[in-house]
Amino acid sequence: EKGGYDHFMLKEIAEQPRAVADTLLGRIGSDGLLTLDEMRLSDQELRDVSKIIVVACGTSYHAGLIAKYAIEHWARVPCEVELASEFRYRDPILNRDTLVIVISQSGETMDTLMAVRHAREQRSRVLAICNVNGSTIPRESDAVLYTHAGPEIAVASTKAFLTQLVACYLVALYIAQVRGVKFGDEITQILDRLAGMPAKVEEVLATMEPVRALARSLADERCVLFLGRHVGFPVALEGALKLKELAYMHAEGFAAGELKHGPIALIDRGLPVVVVVPSPSGQRVIHDKIVSNIQEIRARGARTIVIAEEGDTAVEPYADTLIRVPAVETLLQPLVAAVPLQVFACELATAKGHDVDQPRNLAKSVTVE
Ligand code: M6R
Repeated sequence: EKGGYDHFMLKEIAEQPRAVADTLLGRIGSDGLLTLDEMRLSDQELRDVSKIIVVACGTSYHAGLIAKYAIEHWARVPCEVELASEFRYRDPILNRDTLVIVISQSGETMDTLMAVRHAREQRSRVLAICNVNGSTIPRESDAVLYTHAGPEIAVASTKAFLTQLVACYLVALYIAQVRGVKFGDEITQILDRLAGMPAKVEEVLATMEPVRALARSLADERCVLFLGRHVGFPVALEGALKLKELAYMHAEGFAAGELKHGPIALIDRGLPVVVVVPSPSGQRVIHDKIVSNIQEIRARGARTIVIAEEGDTAVEPYADTLIRVPAVETLLQPLVAAVPLQVFACELATAKGHDVDQPRNLAKSVTVE
């Protein structure tokens, strides 16, 4: 049932191009427009939304952090993102015009379910992005958009994460569409690029051998840091979470701009630091700033492992190891940049002799608070 792979996680990483394609399937009409009527929210309800709060746990929360960039950029609706376990207990300000988007692979996570109940009691609409048909969270929500990742068995989330991103992009674009928001590119153009993402993820998967070799060479390290900016920041958080849960290593993700506000003190000779570099073709300033962050940490002795898009030559002089990903639209970069980090964590944990499908102390779905 592992389809020839040693672990479910490896199989699920490999299934990502198909999972992404399946999540897009049937949602882009022949007119190039999005059709998400299965999610049961009327266009009028979406036009009335004045604030969006995305609520989730763990990896799904990281997808939510990326959703914020897409929702605010494309749909121009104010968006907050919150951990489900924090959301409920802080008396959030919710009303009829608030759309709460909950993201859960399993649909059974107790903290997220409690957030659904709390939001509905305050009369907010709740849209669930979920991978398991008929699970509790979508049943209790007003609306649902299913990811079509297929069953995810490994405890560490991989293909569910990528499909959650796709679902978040679809929701953001759909809200932009019904609200008639204009931004630089046309919605159809972005949908076209999204449709091209399975092939890009496939390209990444075909070039992972050096990442595996790198992971094996770092098996005896005590700590790895991850830095990112813009949508690369949640990708850095996700890379760190994967390493914690699989390799039981201390790993932290930081916003690169925060370095000088504290974390740079951690930089020591030989410390591996993974940096997720945004596309130079997006906001040039973010790209250039992260390049100077890489210089700063390298000058302090860090071993820099740089994930950058093909053709980005500016990073070359400062990367001890360079991992190339295909050039894609800035907001879509997490779909390709997260993959090497999954492979990295999986290989490193395997090199340490850990069970990557069943890491210690963890359960696939956390049904207690
Ligand atoms: O099923 P959910 O998406 O609600 O689960 C949320 C988290 O428990 C989950 O993403 C967890 O962080 C994963 N093990 C991460 O790989």
